[in-house]
Amino acid sequence: MSDTLGIALVGCGTVGTGVARVLLGHADRVARCAGRAMALRHVVVRDPAKARDPIVPTELVSTDASAAIHDPHVHVVVELIGGTATAKDVVLGALAAGKHVVTANKALLAAHGTEVFEAARRAERTVCFEAAVAGGVPIIRALGESLAANQVTAIQAILNGTSNFILTAMAEQGMTYAAALKEAQRLGYAEADPTLDVDGSDAAHKLAVLAQIAFGVAAKPHEIARQGIDTIDAMDIRFANELGYTIKLLAEAWTGGHSHAANGAKLSRGGAHANGNGPPTVALHVAPVLLRHTDLLAQVRGAYNAVLVYGDIVGETLYQGPGAGMMPTASSVVADLIDLGVGRAQRTFAAAKLWGREGRGFVVEPPERVRSRFYLRLLVADKPGVLADITRILADEEISISSLVQHEAEEEGGSPVPLVIVTHYASTGRFRRALARINALPSTAAPAVFFSMGD
Ligand SMILES: NC(=O)c1ccc[n+]([C@@H]2O[C@H](COP(=O)([O-])OP(=O)(O)OC[C@H]3O[C@@H](n4cnc5c(N)ncnc54)[C@H](OP(=O)(O)O)[C@@H]3O)[C@@H](O)[C@H]2O)c1
Repeated sequence: MSDTLGIALVGCGTVGTGVARVLLGHADRVARCAGRAMALRHVVVRDPAKARDPIVPTELVSTDASAAIHDPHVHVVVELIGGTATAKDVVLGALAAGKHVVTANKALLAAHGTEVFEAARRAERTVCFEAAVAGGVPIIRALGESLAANQVTAIQAILNGTSNFILTAMAEQGMTYAAALKEAQRLGYAEADPTLDVDGSDAAHKLAVLAQIAFGVAAKPHEIARQGIDTIDAMDIRFANELGYTIKLLAEAWTGGHSHAANGAKLSRGGAHANGNGPPTVALHVAPVLLRHTDLLAQVRGAYNAVLVYGDIVGETLYQGPGAGMMPTASSVVADLIDLGVGRAQRTFAAAKLWGREGRGFVVEPPERVRSRFYLRLLVADKPGVLADITRILADEEISISSLVQHEAEEEGGSPVPLVIVTHYASTGRFRRALARINALPSTAAPAVFFSMGD
């Protein structure tokens, strides 16, 4: 065996503790896979007095990231702090000091990927980030290496386990959003402040990372249209179910040329350039989507993650597993360390040219041009003429109706009643114009709720 690989762990919370457990608890296995021993040399934290897992050697714990980064016996710095401030300094500092970096930090890559990867190339060092998307699911390697012969044409993914847990509890146990969130917090799936999970931000960061690998686009935050699950009412889960659909928070990337129907009959949910001229486009969005009960992603339950990737050569492939948690995420971090130990990661990194300025020719489709079918739920006055007003507005925008559900009102002229309309394909821009007019109708009792349909 060649030289020992020295490792500095910067951040030893949930994921860092898991990494320490694998490195120290399975040292022989790791050394066998890497072809060399690995030695944990530093554990940098914010509060050294905090009680830690007994496997973490107390003599390695400090608050001195600089000493860890500049230790000549450290070859890899594992950044597991999170956030974009200190984490960025640690990563750039490590690269400048000639160290390879492993990180699980999607927020850092989504916000500063270009800077981080340019610094890595300048320093001729490698940045590995398998754990940054879908935790224990090896989607970064699948996209970047195993599917390398393909041009990916679409990605549909459940990338936020907290949201999927909440939606599953609402659908299967009839819980309200508030009750399901509380249950997620009780079980440790949701933070005390769950905003980044339920408003789609976390999934958008992960989609930005996947879009870089699959399409070479460095999507800016505003280019990823985002809608969370925090506005979903139990009523919409019930209506969706009645129509044969399940609501999932999906992170999606659709290229203009993608059509996922075997017979070609189904339209792509990509943009207006589907068959047009100009550079190839990719539409990126995070939003609740109605999927048919029989769709593979509709069956992903609880806190699990899943990623469907369509490749032009392979067809449809699915990756599923635990998207977060101490040990699943550590599994991915240590896989990166093994790849660095073997020397594979360095060669793949150099060849992939991720976050490079040249890209791969794709441009991000403006959200308003993305085409979809839509689920539209209104609360309307139970009066003659209301339906005619709504259908006229939709017709003005050339949006045709596929189906309509209105249950019989309990008593005539009473409180507003829900009305559900499912449309045929329309551009998001036209649909939103119609929505603004519908919301302004005197007969509309509350802002309309709408979601994309997955077919
Ligand atoms: N948790 C998951 O399931 C999961 C899954 C996939 C990816 N990730 C990503 O993994 C990263 C780490 O997440 P986590 O859940 O392990 O976070 P965490 O439990 O909050 O742990 C953060 C660690 O960083 C340390 N830290 C914070 N600020 C620091 C500073 N300024 N200097 C030195 N150390 C500092 C903390 O020190 P103290 O221990 O002293 O507080 C703690 O050890 C994040 O980027 C996250 O997005 C997490």
